[in-house]
Amino acid sequence: MNARLPPHTITKMVDEQAHEFRVATAAYRGPEVFAQEMEQIFYKTWIYLCHESEIAKPGDFKSTQIGTRPVIVTRGREGGIHALLNACTHRGATICREEKGNTRAFVCPYHGWSFRTSGELIGIPDDARYPEGFNKSDKNLKSVPRVAAYGGLVFGSFNPDVEPLETFLGGAKQHIDLWLKRTAGSTYRVATSHKYGFDGNWKFQAENVYDGYHPGFVHRSAFNTVRKFEGSFENRELHAAVRQQGYTRGYPEGHGTLEAGAPLESGGIDPAVRDAYNTQLKTLYGEDGAAEVLTNRQFLIFPNLTIFDFNIRVIQPIAHDRTEVYSYPLMIDGAHDEINANRMLDAQTRVGTAGILSADDIDVFAGGQNALRTEAFEWITLSRGLGKEEVKPDGERVGVYSDEAPQRAFWRKWRALMAAAA
Ligand code: FES
Ligand code: FE
Repeated sequence: MNARLPPHTITKMVDEQAHEFRVATAAYRGPEVFAQEMEQIFYKTWIYLCHESEIAKPGDFKSTQIGTRPVIVTRGREGGIHALLNACTHRGATICREEKGNTRAFVCPYHGWSFRTSGELIGIPDDARYPEGFNKSDKNLKSVPRVAAYGGLVFGSFNPDVEPLETFLGGAKQHIDLWLKRTAGSTYRVATSHKYGFDGNWKFQAENVYDGYHPGFVHRSAFNTVRKFEGSFENRELHAAVRQQGYTRGYPEGHGTLEAGAPLESGGIDPAVRDAYNTQLKTLYGEDGAAEVLTNRQFLIFPNLTIFDFNIRVIQPIAHDRTEVYSYPLMIDGAHDEINANRMLDAQTRVGTAGILSADDIDVFAGGQNALRTEAFEWITLSRGLGKEEVKPDGERVGVYSDEAPQRAFWRKWRALMAAAA
């Protein structure tokens, strides 16, 4: 393991004063900081694993990662959720090479050891060749010690003493609850992911999720393109972004949101279908409640889970200068086909791999990483709205749409975890 950067070095990287909030470019650079992020953040706190709908049936599994550790999430025969290290206890081969599927058991491709989806070792070929007293019971796949779910979102933690999931979620819980209400009493089902990668630090993508400052600039040409298609769903939302009405929020737990001021209608679909959906929401939650539910909302659950109205994105750090992003369209179970088709269209055309917005952002992240490669450039600034935020008693800070309030919440949490005792 890399040498640990001492707390005073970490603390100095996030410099908060009354007139300025600065982050050292060193925080985005180099394998040392990255290794410490894995140890102090990704292996210490809760990390999103999958949506419950991806492992609905016994035997269902999905491959993912916690930090850079490969993990399989499974639905056991008994119905429980398990998270297992994707490494064979014989000689360490990757036991599951598929992205997702359903199986009775995992059979290691190297020498054929087999394991139940709960991780239990069930077979060793020709095991009579092992010595008397060879202990099989400690050769089960290694479990991620803590697994918990909230609102269909499954999280795991390598820290057995991690705080309860709901405490960790803190201020983000209310946003998850509102996002769940968009199903109008049903549940979400995630579709297959789109994946993209960029040569840049994972925190560039994290900081961008709720950045209301950039759309009118980096996405200007995209807006001009879709402006030609007046009336389409994408067009309405993009205009809302340019108008810069709404709020940003940062929470002491490190989470943050961006909310557009105007309720987002499901504009690209048949008006009768849209009206029926909106009426259903009004019946369930009242006029004001429905408007709140329909407000365009995008938020980050610290450190790397993004929730948009119509999709979930997972920011997967690969190295200090390499990141992969998995974007999962969210379908509503039992909703009208047009509603789900519109959701899929949004994922494909706007925020997915080939989406009109993602391409702009990725270009900036890679360029930013270039600039940050030089140590001659020492600080970046996240001061927009600093000192102008409304501070609530529970520590929530509310800014206007283009303020950098959520980014500051992210960095305060980053600093606290990175500088904490190992
Ligand atoms: Fe898996 Fe040998 S490494 S059976
Ligand atoms: Fe963007």
